[in-house]
Amino acid sequence: MIAAPSTLRSIALEQPATIRVFESFHLDYCCGGNRPLSEACTQKGLDVESVLAALEESVTQEAAAEDFTQATPAALIRHIVTTHHAYVRSELPRLLPTAAKAAAKHGPNHPELIEIEKQLQQLGAELLAHLDKEEMILFPYIEALDAMRNGGSAPHACFPTVEFPIEAMIHEHEGAGALLEQMRAGTKGFQPPVDTCPTVAGLYHGLDAFERDLHRHIHLENNLLFPRAIAIEKEALLIR
Ligand SMILES: [Fe+2]
Ligand SMILES: [Fe+2]
Repeated sequence: MIAAPSTLRSIALEQPATIRVFESFHLDYCCGGNRPLSEACTQKGLDVESVLAALEESVTQEAAAEDFTQATPAALIRHIVTTHHAYVRSELPRLLPTAAKAAAKHGPNHPELIEIEKQLQQLGAELLAHLDKEEMILFPYIEALDAMRNGGSAPHACFPTVEFPIEAMIHEHEGAGALLEQMRAGTKGFQPPVDTCPTVAGLYHGLDAFERDLHRHIHLENNLLFPRAIAIEKEALLIR
């Protein structure tokens, strides 16, 4: 039974099937998910009872939803890298030239497309650097910390505690989420204007899907992997 005072974050964690409902109502369950459902609905002008009914229904039809709450840190990292990082790396080289083409063709009549191209370039550059930091620094450290439970040696780190890089990654997640929110707001929810070509429709469809995938990705890191890494490090310091 899902209750209105529960936080969006806790609902998404306990019932991953609800994520698609949060997405459909554009309710932020990842970066801004630490607040009660009732409050988030009021802020968005949504009827909390209708949202609750949709959430309950998604749980009933849960069969296909993936649950990572019991996954090991290594399995979770593998999933994040092979699914979400791979998605970002394959979508950006497709979306960036499409945004450039759309801005060149329709920018004079729709200046928001010029803005979209700039924002996407910024998002792309920041996200690619972010993925590299996670894959080269943070994730190997978390895996090594977890391996200490099976006799592995203490990993070398260039930070005093894992909370430092985690805080930096969460900050970057907020930046990426905010950029996509600005892009959504500037395009009335990725609605292509009627006088534009299918390139714009394709671009907006791609950006909408990109935002959804990013929310799932950030949810797995902020709400599952990072708290677990902090707990494992505390345990590992006792072993050391
Ligand atoms: Fe990531
Ligand atoms: Fe991340």
